[in-house]
Amino acid sequence: MQFEKYHKEIDKELSKIKLNNNPKELYDPIRYVLKMKSKRVRPILAILAYKLLNRNWKGIIKPCLSLELFHNFTLIHDDIMDKAPIRRGKRTIHEKWNKNIGILSGDLLMILAYNMLSDLPKNMLSKTIMRFNEVSIKVCEGQQLDMNYQKKSHINEKQYLEMIRLKTATLLGLSLELGGYLAKMNLNEVKTLYKIGELFGIGFQLSDDLLDVYGNKNFGKKIGGDILENKKTFLSVKAYELSEKEDKENLEYWKKNNNSSKEKIEKTTEIFNKLNLKKITEKKIKLFFDLAYKKLDSLEIKKLYKEELKNYLNLLFERKI
Ligand code: IPE
Ligand code: IPE
Ligand code: MG
Ligand code: MG
Ligand code: MG
Repeated sequence: MQFEKYHKEIDKELSKIKLNNNPKELYDPIRYVLKMKSKRVRPILAILAYKLLNRNWKGIIKPCLSLELFHNFTLIHDDIMDKAPIRRGKRTIHEKWNKNIGILSGDLLMILAYNMLSDLPKNMLSKTIMRFNEVSIKVCEGQQLDMNYQKKSHINEKQYLEMIRLKTATLLGLSLELGGYLAKMNLNEVKTLYKIGELFGIGFQLSDDLLDVYGNKNFGKKIGGDILENKKTFLSVKAYELSEKEDKENLEYWKKNNNSSKEKIEKTTEIFNKLNLKKITEKKIKLFFDLAYKKLDSLEIKKLYKEELKNYLNLLFERKI
């Protein structure tokens, strides 16, 4: 596979991170999470953005790893918040150990993420940390909205899109931005790269919502997990908007019913099917990916140099990785 070399290099460098052994309850979960099978989307995006101008991508791998470490920290805490049992095909940290262990090992991963930036030249270091901080704040805001919305009976599409922009798309924006910044692109180009990542990131989260209902084993998470937890996803938002009478009543009934998880997922999915939500979501995903491609086209860099990034985004669009 075309992108395997980046994945391999990222995994190799991640495995070089020195971790103490004791206390093992702190370090074992970090080793566990970093060894799990994952796509490594964020560092790969940073590398591909860097490669728009510069070939020597191995020289920037360390700051790119910080994106992956930060992402893994958010996942550990997110799984506690979402009560998720499985991630990347394995038991989640709070299930295998416990919540407190998840909180602390997550915290440490975030610190390790910042440590990975320390080799940057001083002038770049302070700017990069500032941008990481700005984006981290946005991710927290998005995650809090996600939890607030979980308890609300309904939200509209606009509120939903803003929530996913914050919780997911900002870090994907930063990933492309960091690559461009490290390649010394000008301010406008760096901003455009952020925007491409943000648009793509919204599409990416929409597709994550879709796969939560319609994915297969490869997805690595519990199918129907969002339905079980009454998460607001693009599908649940549209279901509320488009359903009528009996279907709307049934959706409400299953939202309140936690007696049979299997039935709750099945019945809710049946209504989603009836409302054609798979197609509707796919259309929305395409819309955001198309906006991202269009933005990428607008970047004043030789078309040929943009092919690799475009191909990678397309692979994610088709969810072939
Ligand atoms: C999962 O991210 C969380 C979302 C923002 C949708 P990824 O789909 O990139 O997860 P991994 O890192 O490949 O497991
Ligand atoms: C992920 O949203 C956002 C962050 C981790 C910040 P989800 O809750 O949908 O991600 P998954 O599905 O658990 O990976
Ligand atoms: Mg979540
Ligand atoms: Mg989650
Ligand atoms: Mg999800």
